[in-house]
Amino acid sequence: MNGTFESRRGFFITFEGGEGTGKTSQINILKTKLKALNVPVIATREPGGTPGAEAVRHVLLSGKAESLGAEAEAILFAAARSDHIEQVIRPALSEGAIVLCDRFIDSTRVYQGVTGKVDIELLKKLESVVCDGAFPDLTLILDIPPEEGMIRAGARRKSSETADRFERENLEVQRKRRDAFRKLAENEPDRCVLIDASGSENEVSDRIWSIVEPRLQQSEII
Ligand code: TYD
Repeated sequence: MNGTFESRRGFFITFEGGEGTGKTSQINILKTKLKALNVPVIATREPGGTPGAEAVRHVLLSGKAESLGAEAEAILFAAARSDHIEQVIRPALSEGAIVLCDRFIDSTRVYQGVTGKVDIELLKKLESVVCDGAFPDLTLILDIPPEEGMIRAGARRKSSETADRFERENLEVQRKRRDAFRKLAENEPDRCVLIDASGSENEVSDRIWSIVEPRLQQSEII
């Protein structure tokens, strides 16, 4: 945490959703579009984004922390996020960049909070300590039926890879997460926009651009 947040000039966009919703591809497409407009942009991901946070990512996704319980996992996600914010996100925003982040606080709210049943008050406290003002300006929630998402996530994996700790969970859990993400979009309509992530990559990226472009124009970034 530091006191430089007041000097922030950039724009912070997070991408959220269940497994296999196509966030990573859409972040790459948006990054290319913004670069073509000569706007400074970085793409990053959670858990991860710094060497320390990537190490924590490995512990979390391998399932090695699973036996510690969902609360401890939430604390580890928060520790990784803290490093990521201080080393990458906050400096980029204060230099005026657009930051595109693959998952952020809403994944914790949904995965650890709703399906992990971690006390929401603990999550709120972690969020306020860790984010300290570095809160997304816009959150795009990519939405598809979990059946489709699981097929996409499976197809994406190389034959040598196995599903990670969270991908392994069953369809019912994935459905609960989808509902929770949709509820988030309903509850925070100024920040969160639900994006229909079905259809071709181009169709989805057009939907995303129709939301992002006016917001960036409004903030006089493009
Ligand atoms: P990743 O391979 O990046 O998944 P995806 O491509 O679906 O985004 O793995 C990240 C996993 O970590 C994903 O299953 C969601 C989970 N996660 C949480 O449970 N809590 C969090 O706060 C974050 C950031 C991710």
